[in-house]
Amino acid sequence: MSRMFTFVPEEYAPSFAARDYVHIRRGLSDQFFGALERQVDDYMQSSRIENYHVGDKQQAVYEFPNRADCDEFIDGMARICGLDAGQIVIAERHFKSYDASANPSPLAHKDRFATQIAVGFSVRVREGSTLVLYPDSDRASNPFGSSTEYRASLDPSQYPEHTLRDSQPVEIQDRPGDIVIFRGSSIWHLRRQPANTVMLYFKINAFHCDTLGEDAGTLEWENRTRRLAEGSNDDLRALVPLLARRVDYIHQRWTRDWQQLYGVILRGKPHLTIDAQEFEWLRSMDGRRSLGEVLGMTDHGAVAAGACEKIRRLARHGIIDLTPSPAAADAHPVAVPARIPKPALLHPRTTSATE
Ligand SMILES: [Fe+2]
Repeated sequence: MSRMFTFVPEEYAPSFAARDYVHIRRGLSDQFFGALERQVDDYMQSSRIENYHVGDKQQAVYEFPNRADCDEFIDGMARICGLDAGQIVIAERHFKSYDASANPSPLAHKDRFATQIAVGFSVRVREGSTLVLYPDSDRASNPFGSSTEYRASLDPSQYPEHTLRDSQPVEIQDRPGDIVIFRGSSIWHLRRQPANTVMLYFKINAFHCDTLGEDAGTLEWENRTRRLAEGSNDDLRALVPLLARRVDYIHQRWTRDWQQLYGVILRGKPHLTIDAQEFEWLRSMDGRRSLGEVLGMTDHGAVAAGACEKIRRLARHGIIDLTPSPAAADAHPVAVPARIPKPALLHPRTTSATE
């Protein structure tokens, strides 16, 4: 018995597969929508993200009422979007409330890299408020951690107000209780006449990316990784490593006198230097290979103690996650631990400029 949705997810899968977006009218059950409508003002008062006032709107972190609702959401999105439910990370879950004075004609943007899929639950929508999508033009993904960084990286000739001039937009005039799903990091989009609109937006991906640390399973991954990293060298060899969820990006840079440097950046944190060998290890971590394979060891070879210490350091710095065994990883390459509720706003300082 569905608590959240009024529809069968598979009915929308072909449309999403063909167009990369779907609009589900009255997709939220009266029960779930009624609760959202009642909660929104409390959320905006109690869980508002401080110092966040970008794009004429306030934001607050949302908590699912219980685990069953969270699981139903993940299951529904997996079935519509063709993703493995076990791999879905909820990288953001924010109420977004536009000011009365919000710009009626904002610029188009693409959501940050982690937003493989954007899911909007429409809560309050005034007449004329319209979600505008450009699914047929310039579908390169935003490689950055915010829409602001992406725009700043572009030449003015690449701005969407130029490149989309001859493109045909899709205009979605959603109503309260509707659901809109689209590929947020690769589709240019905007909300026209957004004043007083309130949305509950989820940003999800299936590639183990949670730079803000908002997914309920991320803390569990981090705790487990720290515990496993302290095992013996032999135990380490059997573990399966992958880039940690909080890694924003990895870079290779040169000074002006051409000294080469590799580094890893966790969101909001400074550059952490790694060496060329660690850089190559990170590149080969796919969530399936064991550490023994990543480090180039044969089944019977010993893992060098120095290599193990380097791996422990990467784990302690939050650069890699570890999962128990190749067998488990083969079955569930990025298996998500049991989802547990956690308090809102665990990381308020880093929750800024997320779009
Ligand atoms: Fe967006």
